[in-house]
Amino acid sequence: MRRTRKTTLRVNGTDHDLDLAGPERLLDVLRDRLGLTGAKAACGLGECGACTVLVDGRPVVSCVTLAGTVRGEVRTVEGLAEETAELRAAFADEGGFQCGFCTPGQIVRAHALLTGDPGETDVRRALAGNVCRCTGYAGIVRAIQRTQRREIDDDH
Ligand code: FES
Ligand code: FES
Repeated sequence: MRRTRKTTLRVNGTDHDLDLAGPERLLDVLRDRLGLTGAKAACGLGECGACTVLVDGRPVVSCVTLAGTVRGEVRTVEGLAEETAELRAAFADEGGFQCGFCTPGQIVRAHALLTGDPGETDVRRALAGNVCRCTGYAGIVRAIQRTQRREIDDDH
């Protein structure tokens, strides 16, 4: 008989009791068990950022994270929909996506930048781990900088 391990994963504000069959990737649990397909499966090596989610507010590549090791709250692009409305609109306006495959990961990573360390303002450096094969990055950077400027203005 195959052994399973019980764990509780908190995702987007809801606790999920799961029986993990061995070392299951967080990405697979989110996509296949919880139906949260925003995080994309691409390289599977932690190198492209398409699978980025937040764990306690910090970006994590879910393809190289074991679900059973996650201790904090996971937030996916679906769970960030409301908070990223302005950022997503800026991506649309500035040509921040073409095929859109990398976009959920870019949005999650950008949201962490915009809500995290105020000392980290370099958008290109913050997004260095998120690969886009389509856009050439200029539209992505413009979209994030536009949202960043708005947030700074709102604070004053
Ligand atoms: S699919 Fe996870 S980093 Fe590429
Ligand atoms: S928009 Fe196609 S990979 Fe980024």
